[in-house]
Amino acid sequence: MNQTAPHCQVAFFSSKRYDKQVFSQFTEDASLELLHIEARLDENTVPLATGSKTICVFVNDELNTQVVIQLAELGVKHIALRCAGYNNVDIATCHQLGISVSHVPVYSPHAIAEHAMALILTLNRRTHKAYNRVKEGNFDLQGLLGFTLHNKTIGVIGTGHIGRAFVNIANGFGCRVLAYDPKPNPALEAVVEYTDLAHLLGESDIISLHCPLTKDNHHLINQQNIALMKNGVMLINTSRGALIDTGALVKGLKSQKIGYVGLDVYEMESELFFRDRSCEVIQDDLFQRLSTFHNVLITGHQGFFSQEALNEIAQTTVDNIKGFLANQINAECFL
Ligand code: NAI
Repeated sequence: MNQTAPHCQVAFFSSKRYDKQVFSQFTEDASLELLHIEARLDENTVPLATGSKTICVFVNDELNTQVVIQLAELGVKHIALRCAGYNNVDIATCHQLGISVSHVPVYSPHAIAEHAMALILTLNRRTHKAYNRVKEGNFDLQGLLGFTLHNKTIGVIGTGHIGRAFVNIANGFGCRVLAYDPKPNPALEAVVEYTDLAHLLGESDIISLHCPLTKDNHHLINQQNIALMKNGVMLINTSRGALIDTGALVKGLKSQKIGYVGLDVYEMESELFFRDRSCEVIQDDLFQRLSTFHNVLITGHQGFFSQEALNEIAQTTVDNIKGFLANQINAECFL
């Protein structure tokens, strides 16, 4: 998109050094002035949007009804999400108040799919533990025993852009792939077996979540659904934390029903992730319990964090903002 847009100040919440670096490459024409704000957007930080008709937000900015009303009162007209998921935004209230919302529907789905596979391989072959052992001169293999991935059954929940990329990776490893999606993709039927959720949960050695978080699938992985899984199952979540009931997950780990957990997202992550908290006393007891299990691997929402994905996010977000200003809306990116 090459249209020239009028000069516009954009309040850029939850900004990190890497955001500044990447976005500066796409705003060189100076038509957009990004006001980088480290703080996360919530009810307390809304006033920082004063003077900006467009704001740019990320996954853990909290745009609930109250925040959206406050933004409208400040004159905000456009919320540009620099991510795919929009479960953190009260879209209905935005529309009622005349605020348009854009997002980045697709950006390097391979980045997230590859991270899901990285979690699987690390959990299975314990490379994170082997690395530390060898560094300390400990070459003992006891405790590092893994399983061969070839011929294992992987259940994929959600076969959109990321799920599809993940299916291709799993096929490359020679796995049998089961899939559950309320809207199956006919193009994938040659490489996956679509089935219902209960069958997928009962048959899979590894289950990987690749669906968005909606009102209907909050705590999709709960005590009841965990009970349907194979003993020793590996569960991977790179989608959204609240797809899993973390209390039920901890119970499943304690009873050893669940054999491995790999998480890039966590349901209360907004209070924890994207900051250095190594010198703080973490108050989230559930998270602390979860991170004590030897067979749990948690990363801090970094699935999207590849150079290619960041470039695509920045390009599309800047295009969305300029498109909004020029009244040239790309329907695929506006909600
Ligand atoms: P997409 O919209 O291309 O595909 C989502 C698929 O999930 C669709 O086929 C849809 O029919 C299906 N689906 C919806 N509800 C479902 C349910 N209850 N059970 C099973 N399937 C269901 O989305 P895409 O691009 O594949 O992204 C998926 C999710 O990944 C995003 O919504 C986001 O939450 C997460 N994500 C995580 C990132 C990370 O850094 N960890 C980065 C980007 C996205």
